[in-house]
Amino acid sequence: MKGREIKVKTAGFTYPVLIETGSLNDTGKKLNMLFPSSRALLVSDTKVYSLFGEKVIKALNSENWQVSTIIIRPGERSKTLAGASRIYDAALAAELDRNSPVIALGGGVVGDLAGFAASTFLRGVPLIMLPTTLLAQVDSSVGGKVAVNHPSGKNIIGSIYPPRIVIIDPDTLETLDVRQRKAGLAEIIKYGIIVNDDFFKWLESRISDLLLGKSNLLAEAVYLSLKAKAMVVEKDEHETDYRRILNFGHTVGHALEAATSYRYYLHGEAVLIGMIVASQIANELNLLGDDETARIRHLIEKVGMKKPPAGLTAAAVIDKLRQDKKRRGNDLIFVLPTQIGRVEIIPVNDHKLIERAVRRYLGQ
Ligand SMILES: NC(=O)c1ccc[n+]([C@@H]2O[C@H](COP(=O)([O-])OP(=O)(O)OC[C@H]3O[C@@H](n4cnc5c(N)ncnc54)[C@H](O)[C@@H]3O)[C@@H](O)[C@H]2O)c1
Ligand SMILES: [Zn+2]
Repeated sequence: MKGREIKVKTAGFTYPVLIETGSLNDTGKKLNMLFPSSRALLVSDTKVYSLFGEKVIKALNSENWQVSTIIIRPGERSKTLAGASRIYDAALAAELDRNSPVIALGGGVVGDLAGFAASTFLRGVPLIMLPTTLLAQVDSSVGGKVAVNHPSGKNIIGSIYPPRIVIIDPDTLETLDVRQRKAGLAEIIKYGIIVNDDFFKWLESRISDLLLGKSNLLAEAVYLSLKAKAMVVEKDEHETDYRRILNFGHTVGHALEAATSYRYYLHGEAVLIGMIVASQIANELNLLGDDETARIRHLIEKVGMKKPPAGLTAAAVIDKLRQDKKRRGNDLIFVLPTQIGRVEIIPVNDHKLIERAVRRYLGQ
């Protein structure tokens, strides 16, 4: 695929997001357009490093970059303050200065952790994102949210720290397993529902090929998703809290993840279910028509909904919903579609209605 570029405006600066087949081989050249080459710290996990680490280091060395590496264990449990601390140690050992970039090569875990470390080391060094999962490419690498987990909850410690450049190589998706691909598709479908009905239609007609992992189609889906996300993030600078619409499907999604101690669902799997539940709530509140509710359900069912684990009760899910930080008094705050391509933030106080929608998924 020919390269494409999206520019994302932030309060301080504008950064490019490049989507280009084979672009990992050009990492050094792309960085040289931004900084004089010197030292950099590459952060990755063992799995991603074994797939693409050598390629990236070679591309950097050939453009006179001196690269040190720090490799973490794959998985959410690495996203901690202790993990960040290991990155600070490596950055000190590599003698990074304030202009030396931290390069995150991996999925959302590596991006969030390396991003958090970059935002705090020497009060902030440049951050470069090389996202390698579909989720990281369409969501976590763009928008500037960086964080680590705390024993009391996910993403408790973090900040907004935009990267200087995001380089997306769609070829990396070829090694991704189908479960991870489906989890990424959840966020892609979300963009269609919240801001772009044409994109939703595009997805309806191509979902089977996307599920098969056809890489030029996935690249196109990544591009259209990031255009949507960039628009939302930029508009948020003027319209406070506009980016809350990105939480569509996440109210119930997060509750499902929390009620199962983050061990049963991938984030995207929980969001797929959350989007169906939210659409059903919107339908029962007469905000969303029957046809559109059915279309949303149909597309999501094609991706597949993970069955609930034995023993998960509606009460446990509702309990987690009530603990949601975003609740206001008795009102639970939902992002609800009013048509495909449009959502509104709506406080819902009819807990029985929410419970019915959750029970329908649980089959209770
Ligand atoms: N910052 C944000 O705005 C934001 C948004 C959404 C999610 N997140 C965070 O992202 C994290 C989840 O990210 P994720 O889903 O990418 O998970 P992940 O980073 O754990 O990656 C999933 C698995 O895929 C492997 N992997 C990565 N790239 C691969 C490739 N190309 N081929 C084969 N295997 C590959 C990884 O080693 C890992 O085992 C969570 O911590 C979540 O909180 C952040
Ligand atoms: Zn999400």
